[in-house]
Amino acid sequence: MTATKGLEGIVAAQSSISSIIDGILTYRGINIDDLAEHASFEEVAYLLWYGKLPNRAELADLQQNLDTYAVIPSEVIEGIKLYPKDTNSMAALRTAVSSLALYDTSSNEMSQSANILKAIKLQAQLPTIVAAFARIREGKEPIAPKQGVSIAHNFLYMLTGEEPADVAVKALDQALVLHADHELNASTFAARVTVATLSDIYSGVTSAIGALKGPLHGGANEAVMVMLEEIGSKENVNAYIEKALANKVKIMGFGHRVYKNGDPRAKHLQKMSLELGKLTGNMELYEMSVQIEDLVTGQKGLKPNVDFYSASVYTALQIPRDLFTPIFAISRVSGWSAHILEQYENNRLIRPRAEYVGPVGATYVGIDER
Ligand code: ACO
Repeated sequence: MTATKGLEGIVAAQSSISSIIDGILTYRGINIDDLAEHASFEEVAYLLWYGKLPNRAELADLQQNLDTYAVIPSEVIEGIKLYPKDTNSMAALRTAVSSLALYDTSSNEMSQSANILKAIKLQAQLPTIVAAFARIREGKEPIAPKQGVSIAHNFLYMLTGEEPADVAVKALDQALVLHADHELNASTFAARVTVATLSDIYSGVTSAIGALKGPLHGGANEAVMVMLEEIGSKENVNAYIEKALANKVKIMGFGHRVYKNGDPRAKHLQKMSLELGKLTGNMELYEMSVQIEDLVTGQKGLKPNVDFYSASVYTALQIPRDLFTPIFAISRVSGWSAHILEQYENNRLIRPRAEYVGPVGATYVGIDER
């Protein structure tokens, strides 16, 4: 038995949810470029769960369910109030999502209909949790979700208490579409491994949030912003990046396990970053990002991934840096839950082997002889 480090190139599941073929990403066979251009995030979530785009009645039905379930149990809010104010936002989200299961009497029901309803509940509840956490840590009261508006609209509203601008809602909605699913990425795999034991959907999503948190995965969008802040201005880009590359420091937001010719989501986020920069009259972050891309691609051949330009997009939307990865989770919970449903439909325990490289034939030594 020989291990494949990082499971690179290993095909670990069959899936009909999203595909990456010749560098093209599709959800249920539809090119991500078309979805980013034309679809709302709610339509995409429906597509991931049900395998088809919703008609008007189906979309209205989903919207009604999202409205109903966006209100989170008061016990979860009270729990968030007990978290340390300076705690990591992904740790807070992971804990709060795990606690949702405590107040859902159907958490262990395993029928397809019960699980799809829980997927919708989780989709509705994650934005409320993230917005509530962001306000509570600032000593403010959480804002109740609005009815009849999109998830992007509701999230921005619950964060600030103000009606968001249409352009901000559109940008966030498109970012949510682009982050919704991505084949067997690390967090989705974590979710599938967890539920393949026939554990519940809350456990699967909690595992996924833990995996997304790391800077090699979803945590990279926050890490990109940390880097941009450290660089500070365009004049410092060259020296910073040259030094980092010389010291073999990884540049956050670049590289990808499955794309060698570029991440198809990055161009949409770059365009959004440019448009928002023009609109806000602040082009500094966009221009710094382009300068970084030129250097990293020129010198290392590495292209930006989905996380690189999302940092300047979210900053232009005035979203605090440490909410970038929770926003990723708000979107990706659609994909995680679709994969969880797919795993249940055709389940087998996921239990690979390890190549043993430890000592052989070692003997037990009594505690007094050690
Ligand atoms: N900056 C500098 N060098 C890099 C980078 C980077 N961002 N990414 C890869 N490399 C180099 C590695 O140092 C390595 O070089 P070596 O062969 O000389 O040692 C080579 O490219 C291969 O890199 P690996 O880390 O082995 O590639 P892997 O497929 O395992 O990792 C990953 C992919 C984790 C995305 C990696 O490119 C990386 O760490 N990027 C930065 C973090 C990041 O942006 N993560 C988000 C990914 S997208 C997402 O999850 C949503």
